[in-house]
Amino acid sequence: MGITVLLGAQWGDEGKGRIVDALAQDADIVARFNGGDNAGHSITIGSQVVKLHLVPSGIFRDTCLNVLGNGVVLNPRNLLKEMAEIRSAGIEVTPRRLRISQSAHVILPGHIALDAAREAAGGGIGTTQRGIGFAYMDKASRTGIRTGLMADPEAFGDAVQKHTEQVNKTLANEYGRGPLDAHELAVEYANAARQLAPYLDNTFHIMQRALADGKRILAEGAQAALLDIDHGTYPFVTSSNATVGGVITGLAVPPQAITRVVGVAKAFATRVGGGPFVTELQGEMALRLRGTGANPWDEYGSTTGRPRRVGWFDAVALRYTAQLNGMSEVALTKLDILSGIDVLKICVGYLVDGTQLDDFPQDTAVLARCTPVYEEIPGWHEDVSRMRTFAELPERLHAYLRRIETLCGVRVTIVSVGPEREQLILSS
Ligand code: IMO
Ligand code: MG
Repeated sequence: MGITVLLGAQWGDEGKGRIVDALAQDADIVARFNGGDNAGHSITIGSQVVKLHLVPSGIFRDTCLNVLGNGVVLNPRNLLKEMAEIRSAGIEVTPRRLRISQSAHVILPGHIALDAAREAAGGGIGTTQRGIGFAYMDKASRTGIRTGLMADPEAFGDAVQKHTEQVNKTLANEYGRGPLDAHELAVEYANAARQLAPYLDNTFHIMQRALADGKRILAEGAQAALLDIDHGTYPFVTSSNATVGGVITGLAVPPQAITRVVGVAKAFATRVGGGPFVTELQGEMALRLRGTGANPWDEYGSTTGRPRRVGWFDAVALRYTAQLNGMSEVALTKLDILSGIDVLKICVGYLVDGTQLDDFPQDTAVLARCTPVYEEIPGWHEDVSRMRTFAELPERLHAYLRRIETLCGVRVTIVSVGPEREQLILSS
């Protein structure tokens, strides 16, 4: 049966949560392999919008086991809060439904304080201030604390105390900031460890067994290809591999087990935080695409509430991320938002220093100097939000999809025409 991988194909916030939610219908396991609670995956169920940050989106399907892989960074305090919120929506969150790798790394208040201090001091890139970069920094420098230590709450508390004391020195020396209460945190985190310990497991074995038993696995990516630490617009990226390689290292699965790679992209483009954004729009069209913020699906960060930068669809960028990930298909979201726009634009090339680039540049400084070459496509005016099959969709919308498929070399097999669960059209 193998592994279906679902990835962000742009700069995040593509609507991955709802596509995972739909694909989870046919999955036995949904697993996160990268990132932490910097992700914000919103799922609309009836009139309720549930925001997940760390727990895999399969939690809403009773038959799914949800796994947090070793590639993840996990904030125990926020995870417990999220678990409680999900429970209050009447959903079971027990070790029967959720397992945590013993070799993931933990995010502590010290990491978050350092993230916030660096951002405030002007040395940041507009992070979500969830301590992501500093936790991965400790992992890479081999000083991190792994989730497995939570099996011994006292030892975990001691490690938290030591980490906090260490961070306090940096906060004072480098940022002139006051200390965190190391003792208080040690007590809180020992207690958190007691609550989370029953969820710890050898997730390598879980995945191996699942593959041997022919189980259907869905790997849920957080962030996105252009935020990938290696392949994104460095340094304006997150600190993990959000591309397909991250699945293999972050979940401990062999590459040949991956049978399908679905990229999720928005029908236009958004980015939150700093960094180059070639098709970025200002003015009226930007306001039109962003929305006012009155609706939960308007373009405001679901983790931070920041207004997102918006722009036209960038086919150069999507062709790059499709190739990078071996995408077998694309899910294109928010097509309903484009209804009623007379002329749509698709970026088909970049201009830099008078030359046209057809490929996404590796050098972020070059990317920052690129300007878009647009192709104009006539828009459609029909309200598509009640359409439920590809056949019903307007001819001009089909033409928009076909142009994206040709330019990016990948098929569009799923489209969304609204935020609700049933406003998703899957090609048969
Ligand atoms: P989902 O999973 C959009 C961005 C931040 C910042 C950069 C680094 O909801 O698509 P970090 O806190 O990771 O150190 O921030 O990455 N970023 C996201 N942008 N969606 C996300 O996740 C993001 N996670 C991180 O805005 O530019
Ligand atoms: Mg987000």
